[in-house]
Amino acid sequence: MSVAAAVNNLLAQFGLQMVRSSTLAQLISAANHPAPEPAQPEPTQSTIEAVEDVLQEIYSTQLDVSPALITMFKDMRVTAQIAAGQSSAAWIANHADKVNTYPTRHDMLEELCKGELPAGGLAEFGVFTGAVTRFLRPRFPTRTYHAFDSFEGVPESMGLAIKAGDFALGGTIPELPDGVTTHIGWFEDTVPVFRQQYTDRLAFVYIDCDLFESVKTVLANLHDLLAPGATVVFDDWYNFPNWQAHSRRALEELVERTGTKFTPIGLTIREHAVAFRYDGTAAS
Ligand SMILES: C[S@@+](CC[C@H](N)C(=O)[O-])C[C@H]1O[C@@H](n2cnc3c(N)ncnc32)[C@H](O)[C@@H]1O
Repeated sequence: MSVAAAVNNLLAQFGLQMVRSSTLAQLISAANHPAPEPAQPEPTQSTIEAVEDVLQEIYSTQLDVSPALITMFKDMRVTAQIAAGQSSAAWIANHADKVNTYPTRHDMLEELCKGELPAGGLAEFGVFTGAVTRFLRPRFPTRTYHAFDSFEGVPESMGLAIKAGDFALGGTIPELPDGVTTHIGWFEDTVPVFRQQYTDRLAFVYIDCDLFESVKTVLANLHDLLAPGATVVFDDWYNFPNWQAHSRRALEELVERTGTKFTPIGLTIREHAVAFRYDGTAAS
């Protein structure tokens, strides 16, 4: 069996059709020159045997895969993501070692919504089509719920991941569940107005607006509305290129300036979201 066929078999057992047919076959092909063999539809070997076949083939033919790997790692998104994963893992080790982990934000939110919350309303920053709104609103039907978005997309580009205008909805405002008050416009305009009018505390805040300036606007205006014990979820905390420069920086600057305390209470291990509990100020 050739290397390409063995890799194809292996990947097929994991159901990785896309990777099998494109990336890996191309890498093997680039390193080996001959065209990859067509995928085997029905793998007949166990996963471990297939791995052994691949390794054996590489050793026995002295296949040099380094040119293909070098090509792959020249893609800055790959290099940057690896660095982001490493620095995010280091952040967990240093700041959130004993915190519960969840595969996705959905799993984490399910759990957070079962916990006790202080009195107060909910606020969401970065609604887009309303996926999170539709998830959270029914779980807190008696609390007030405020949803903020320009619905014109993000105002700036963000490194390798996001371009200015991404998430624009072309003037369409999504239909959101009953009981949700929608604040349409840029945060720098809508959030200070809300701050002046809102007289309650905030018990649950979901921040998914990607950029440092956007997160900073939310935190700077609203941190003193947070009820002690409130849950604050940052959808874009870590595990993407240059993650430290956005939500993390905005929260750290706030903590430094105000002496507020935020304790990590939930981590996603395949996504970017991290949840914190607001613990008041150092003096309180
Ligand atoms: C990643 S999307 C939100 C995705 C959504 N939470 C979801 O799970 O589907 C980010 C949203 O933040 C909004 N946004 C970012 N910065 C903003 C700002 N300064 N003012 C208003 N909206 C902003 C964008 O319009 C965009 O809809």
